[in-house]
Amino acid sequence: MRLLFVGDVCGTSGLRAAVRYIRERRDDFDAVVVNGENVTNGRGLSRKHFGALLDAGADIVTLGNHSFDQRETLAYIEEAPRLLRPLNLPREVPGLGVRTVDLRSGGRLTVMQLMGRVFMEPIDNPFRVADEALESLPGDVPVLVDMHAEATSEKKVMGWHLRGRVAAVLGTHTHVQTADERIDQGTAYLTDVGMTGVEDSAIGVEFPEVHHRFTQQTPKRYRPAEGRAMVQAVELTIEGVKATAIARVRWLEPQP
Ligand SMILES: [Fe+2]
Repeated sequence: MRLLFVGDVCGTSGLRAAVRYIRERRDDFDAVVVNGENVTNGRGLSRKHFGALLDAGADIVTLGNHSFDQRETLAYIEEAPRLLRPLNLPREVPGLGVRTVDLRSGGRLTVMQLMGRVFMEPIDNPFRVADEALESLPGDVPVLVDMHAEATSEKKVMGWHLRGRVAAVLGTHTHVQTADERIDQGTAYLTDVGMTGVEDSAIGVEFPEVHHRFTQQTPKRYRPAEGRAMVQAVELTIEGVKATAIARVRWLEPQP
């Protein structure tokens, strides 16, 4: 199975680049998974933008700490089995955090999203929640884990915790692609897949706003950066339930 995982899509420029890249390369992959939690004004994912990612060819879209910043997500996620929020949120939260899907190519894929706890909002223990979820999953379907977390160490340790038990642990949230891809005991790992959005930006936000916050230490509304965007992603090859290859992707939109 060939799989594409697209890193955190930011704003309308990121969405434009993601849609173009997925459309152009859809036939190269059996499955496409996208982290879409920063698409709509940089925070969350509207129903319309979720639809745009599905139309482009995404099989599963994952969220993160901004899952419900677009209030409508609280309602539409219940009818959107291909949209995942972190599994270790409280049980009462709408939506699912793990899902097995049938792929157009005939295979099946399980995607699980977890969220870290270091420098983030309080949330249940992602390590225990992952263990519990794996116990109830079919053993013959490859599992991809999106570990949405701030701290590199927490992501790295999750990779170690799940190695040999899942096909991939891919980090999201920090928006800067790391270069530590590896495969250990059939588990592909990368600390952060990176960002799909404007390269010339403060990890997806216009520089002046973030500069203001750092220099003045007073609030300033963030605008997602607009302009020429890049796609950062990972390509995986999975045989059975084990990964056999991982490659990072960095693709820049052509000049207008
Ligand atoms: Fe995030």
